[in-house]
Amino acid sequence: MPAGFSFPTSDSDQRLYKCLSHNWYKPSPGIGLGLVIHALEKHKDAFVYAGARDSEKATALHELKDKYPGRIVIVKCVSGDVEGHALVAKEIKERHGKVDTVIANAALWSSFGTVSGVFIDDLEEHFHVNVSGPIILFQAMYDLLKKSANPRFVSMSSIGRCVGIGLVSTQVPGICYGATKAVLNGATRKIHFENDWLVAFPMSPGGVSTTALDDTCVNDPSGLFKTLVTGTEPTAAEAAIPILKVIDESTREKNGGEFMHIDGTKMPSW
Ligand SMILES: NC(=O)c1ccc[n+]([C@@H]2O[C@H](COP(=O)([O-])OP(=O)(O)OC[C@H]3O[C@@H](n4cnc5c(N)ncnc54)[C@H](OP(=O)(O)O)[C@@H]3O)[C@@H](O)[C@H]2O)c1
Repeated sequence: MPAGFSFPTSDSDQRLYKCLSHNWYKPSPGIGLGLVIHALEKHKDAFVYAGARDSEKATALHELKDKYPGRIVIVKCVSGDVEGHALVAKEIKERHGKVDTVIANAALWSSFGTVSGVFIDDLEEHFHVNVSGPIILFQAMYDLLKKSANPRFVSMSSIGRCVGIGLVSTQVPGICYGATKAVLNGATRKIHFENDWLVAFPMSPGGVSTTALDDTCVNDPSGLFKTLVTGTEPTAAEAAIPILKVIDESTREKNGGEFMHIDGTKMPSW
C-alpha cells in the first residue's frame, strides 16, 4: 500500500496493517513490501491487508501468506480507484471492523519533465496517483480508523521534493513528482488539523535502494540525480525498520501534522 494499516481488536492487541504497494516483478523490492514483511515479523499479533494492483500476480505477497498463515490478506488496490477502495473497506469492516494504521505508500515517479516542457497528461496522472490516491484511501478508511483506539494515517512523501528544501533549487527536473508530493504533504497536514482524534503525518523515508530509485538515476535527463545517490542507501527491508518504528511510536502530540523523517526527526521545511 503502499498504504498500510493496523488495528487492534476490542479484546486483544491485534494489529492490522495495510501496505500499498509491493513490487512483485521488480529487481529490488519496494518500501511497501518491506513494510508488510517487517510488520508481520515485528508484531506477532499483526494482521496485514497488503494492497497490490494485480493481486493475482503478487507472488512475494502470496509467499507471505504461506509463511504467516491467517495473518495477511492481499487486496486489490489501484490508486485513485474509489469503488475498489470501498470494496477493500467493506472487506476489512466485515473481517475486523476497524483499522489501526494506514500507510499510503504507493506513488508514481516516472516523468522527468521541466515545468516548461512537462506533458500535462503526465502531470495529471501523477496527481491522480500521488495526491488523489492517498486522499481516496483516507476517505475509504475513515470510518474504520474512527473505530480504532489508536488510529494512524501516514502518507509516504519525499525529502527531495519539498517546496523549501531538497531538489527544488537544483536543475534536477521532475515537476510531476515534486509538485504532487508537496501537495500530498499539505493534504496530510490538513488531515491532522481536521481530525483531532487521529495521528496523521507525511513521512520522508530518505533515499532507499529500490527499483524506482535506480530508474530515476537512469531516466533523469540532467544526470544530476545519480550524483546525489551514494550507493549506501538502505534496502527496503532495512528502511522498513526505522520507518515502522517512527509510525508505531507516533503520537498526535509528538508527530501529528509534522513532516517526519525516517530517523525520527522533524523535517525543517516542507
Ligand atoms: N526509494 C526512495 O529513495 C524514496 C525516496 C523518497 C520517497 N519515496 C517514496 O516511498 C514510496 C515507495 O517508493 P519505492 O521506492 O518503494 O517506489 P516503487 O518501488 O516504485 O514503489 C511504488 C509503488 O507504488 C505502486 N503504484 C504506482 N502506481 C500505482 C497505482 N496507480 N496504483 C497502485 N499502486 C501503484 C507501484 O506498484 P507496482 O508494484 O504495481 O508497480 C509500486 O509498488 C513512494 O511513495 C515514494 O515516493 C521513496
